[in-house]
Amino acid sequence: MPLETNNPVDVERAHSNPLGGVLSSYEGPRALISRDRSLPWWRRILPVIASHRITFTIAISLSFLSLVFQTLVPKLLNGAIDHSLVRHSSSLHTVVIEILVVGVIAGATGIVSRQFVFKTAYNVEADLRSLIYEHLAWLSFSFYDRVQSGQLISRANSDIRSVQMYSTFAPLIVVQSFIGVIAFGFMLSINVPLALIAMVVMPILYFVGIKMRRVMFPISWITQARLADVATIVDENVNGVRVVKSFAQEEAEINRLADAAERVTWAYIKDAQLRAVWSPWAQNLPQLGLALVLFFGGWMVIDGHLGIGAILAFNAYLLMLQAPFMMLGQLVMMGQRAKASAERIFEILDENPDVTERPGAYDLVEPTGRVEFGRVVFRYGDGPEILRDFTAVIEPGETVAIVGRTGSGKSTVARLLTRFYDVTDGAVRIDGHDVRDLTLHSLRASVGVVLDEPFLFSISIRDNIAYGRPDATMDEVVAAAQAANAAEFIDRLPHGYDTVVGERGYTLSGGQRQRIAIARTLLVNPPVLILDDATSAIDVHVETEIHRALANLLAQRTTIVIAHRISTIALASRVLVLDDGRVVASGTHEALLASTPLYAQILAQATTEEDD
Ligand SMILES: Nc1ncnc2c1ncn2[C@@H]1O[C@H](COP(=O)(O)OP(=O)(O)O)[C@@H](O)[C@H]1O
Ligand SMILES: [Mg+2]
Repeated sequence: MPLETNNPVDVERAHSNPLGGVLSSYEGPRALISRDRSLPWWRRILPVIASHRITFTIAISLSFLSLVFQTLVPKLLNGAIDHSLVRHSSSLHTVVIEILVVGVIAGATGIVSRQFVFKTAYNVEADLRSLIYEHLAWLSFSFYDRVQSGQLISRANSDIRSVQMYSTFAPLIVVQSFIGVIAFGFMLSINVPLALIAMVVMPILYFVGIKMRRVMFPISWITQARLADVATIVDENVNGVRVVKSFAQEEAEINRLADAAERVTWAYIKDAQLRAVWSPWAQNLPQLGLALVLFFGGWMVIDGHLGIGAILAFNAYLLMLQAPFMMLGQLVMMGQRAKASAERIFEILDENPDVTERPGAYDLVEPTGRVEFGRVVFRYGDGPEILRDFTAVIEPGETVAIVGRTGSGKSTVARLLTRFYDVTDGAVRIDGHDVRDLTLHSLRASVGVVLDEPFLFSISIRDNIAYGRPDATMDEVVAAAQAANAAEFIDRLPHGYDTVVGERGYTLSGGQRQRIAIARTLLVNPPVLILDDATSAIDVHVETEIHRALANLLAQRTTIVIAHRISTIALASRVLVLDDGRVVASGTHEALLASTPLYAQILAQATTEEDD
């Protein structure tokens, strides 16, 4: 059966084969999707498909050729039986050889076409995936505030699959349905009335295909959703295992999983039941066609109007036609699904980063590190104003602490300086340059941030520290680790700097992770450094040691420490008190304690929070 080789289900299986060597030749996307949102979805995808037009055209032409040869076989069979076996008017040998040759050609073209189809499908899928991932890397933080990252990735994957499947296999199915026309032509050439009778069941098969897909689709959709639920629960229980166990909720979680699993089972059983009802239709309708052919054809044979071979040939044609006609019916639903998937993909690809380099952006070269916030107003999206009229100047080499209540906007100040977000009004300047005039690369190389919840990759400690400067020597890595007071504990690890950090860095304590994150930033040696609550998870005595190591490093650069511990604030020569979106007081720690009751209040509150 020719179509089975290109059946989407088959393709699904082929995709899950990790040994498929086709991807190795992948070179990256050659085309982008169309940016014109008014086009129908398939026109927008078309450039990506078209960039593989050579392999795709070969695939389709060969598949067509293969089908033509396949349809020749029953015709030859008809001749062989009628002329060689019944009437002995031609040599059996010649016909057998003819059939063999045609069969071999059909097989060979089929094999090659199949390879080209897979090559196209793999490459289209890889293209779409690269396009999406490249785009995701390009998007700004504001996008990630709005979406759930896990969902984004899994959704992108299944949507890519459904678009790929439709765009490469739908044209193929259409071409293969063309076999119907050819086969019908051959049948007409054998016997006109019988050809018409044989084709009677085909429209029914087509509608059964549509109906089946329509009945099966919702349940397969439900199954997918429920499987995703199970995956979420398992994921939460693996990642949140500490919470589950500390609240002794293992049993509740097992029950929750059992419920979800039961819902999957229901969906699977429902699916099997529907399949049981509908598959026999699809399988046995052709037998009805066959019965009709046998009845009317047999009658004609008995009357002497038709050769026996014709009945055999018609039988073969009917079997050959069955699959394309059913697939044709399914094509509509596949198309609807692909459309929905494509639209979700476009949602990502149409998203523009808010923070972009303006034309003519220039590099920030060896800045002295004078930081200036000029009447900065900021809100996240349409949210409330977080900063209003925030003004501050930090001189080169100065260390300044920003102190404020939780949620007062301290981290936001740091994000504006690195241009993770753009100010709503006012300006942030480094050495007098508006950060929006600078290239993002040079800006972010000049401003280093250590966050309070540092993310470490599942790679070695050395590679984590050298993340921003992969070419750093081992000596530099060790020096950075020493400055962050991390060298000592790293040396005690079984594999030292080669120790691979566990998933999410779980094998390290919070304080250790933070010290590695500090080392990572120090290695880049940025002229401007922001420590955003970076030492809050480290015990006070370790912190003191870090501070001692940091002291000489800080002297050489402009540093903003966001902190609430007096020990950390002591690093700074000046403290800015942030409240109500602006700097309400500024001075040394002692001066502020004396002059600003709010300052003492914030520190007291922060201390109680930490003790909780
Ligand atoms: N990505 C975001 N999207 C929307 N609102 C945010 C976002 N990040 C922070 N906020 C809000 O902005 C305010 C200031 O946050 P932040 O700068 O993190 O405060 P701080 O670091 O002083 O605790 C908070 O009210 C917080 O809820
Ligand atoms: Mg913060």
